[in-house]
Amino acid sequence: MSNMINKQWRIAARPDGNVKITDFELQEEPVRELADGEFLLRTHYLNLAPVMRMYMQGISAAGEVPLSIGDVIHGRGVAQVITSKHPDYQVADVLQGQIGWQTYKISKGTAGERFYKMPRRGLSYSLGVSLLGMTGFSAYCGFIKCGFPKTGDVVLVSGAGGGVGSIVVQIAKVLGCKVIGIAGGEEKCKFVSSIGADQVIDYKNDDVAAKITEFAPTGLDVYFDNIGGEILAAALENLSMNARVVLCGSISEYMRNEPFGLTNYTKLRSTNSSMNGFFVYNHEKDFIEAEENLACWINEGHIQVKEDITNGFDQMPFGLQNLYAGKNQGVALCKILDDSELIFD
Ligand SMILES: NC(=O)c1ccc[n+]([C@@H]2O[C@H](COP(=O)([O-])OP(=O)(O)OC[C@H]3O[C@@H](n4cnc5c(N)ncnc54)[C@H](OP(=O)(O)O)[C@@H]3O)[C@@H](O)[C@H]2O)c1
Repeated sequence: MSNMINKQWRIAARPDGNVKITDFELQEEPVRELADGEFLLRTHYLNLAPVMRMYMQGISAAGEVPLSIGDVIHGRGVAQVITSKHPDYQVADVLQGQIGWQTYKISKGTAGERFYKMPRRGLSYSLGVSLLGMTGFSAYCGFIKCGFPKTGDVVLVSGAGGGVGSIVVQIAKVLGCKVIGIAGGEEKCKFVSSIGADQVIDYKNDDVAAKITEFAPTGLDVYFDNIGGEILAAALENLSMNARVVLCGSISEYMRNEPFGLTNYTKLRSTNSSMNGFFVYNHEKDFIEAEENLACWINEGHIQVKEDITNGFDQMPFGLQNLYAGKNQGVALCKILDDSELIFD
């Protein structure tokens, strides 16, 4: 194994505002021999997600341990077992889970790495960091298990051009809901229409609260919140009776120094509505159902994923930078090795 070189992106500095290339350091080290109980993974795809800047700031987020300067950055991805001395992981298994920003990983398969074997479905394994991974599971579990959608519901989705939001829009359409998406700018809004949203609000140019009232005159039955802040406040002004608000993310808060401070939460009381905090790993029992249904909807052509692919491990920092600049359409990920390089027995 000594001829294999593991490339790693490590934290060089805590980000201030959007990430800069000087916040990262690229290191290379030889892959060591395996001990008993270990297996070697070769990375194919790595997710690029908003939470990564929090990791780089040393904040404990998404259940991961806080990182110090010099640590390899956390990141989920898809990798294949290429050598194994572990009884539960065989050569050729394709896993999705916590790999980190590196091209190889030696693992013992600990609970914290949350590895899931990906079934062979004849679909691209890149879906393990999008529709058939935590992004898809977040959309499915957050929307279905916390938003309790019904046919005919009026559903508002913010961050609708992003990874989670774009999948929620499509699931809501499969379930027969009327869907209003919120995205920023003309191009993103066109994309959200193209995946099935009945109406789209451009939060960068429209009066969001007024548009929600116009598009949902009888009120919102479900609001799937990826953004927090002013958009959450605008949604609360437009709830129908017994509405469900799913708090999935609050991306507008991540770079603020002072939290937004919601003042109209009493709208929940007057409409007998509920606001549910959601964390995807609290729904692990639902992942098999999520994976099966999502794969079925992909095969039937009901849902598609737009992958925003950064090509090459060396480009990872720029992929993350683009995410924070809102340049991604759909799920942001980095392709390190193509599916054609997978080995199968
Ligand atoms: N609770 C959980 O378990 C869980 C799981 C996964 C993700 N999340 C959270 O869910 C959210 C979405 O994740 P994702 O993976 O879909 O991210 P993503 O692909 O980056 O999408 C987020 C979208 O938010 C929009 N956005 C960024 N800044 C904004 C702002 N200030 N105001 C309004 N919109 C803004 C961007 O689109 P525009 O160009 O349209 O602005 C972007 O496409 C994030 O907050 C993430 O942390 C939570």
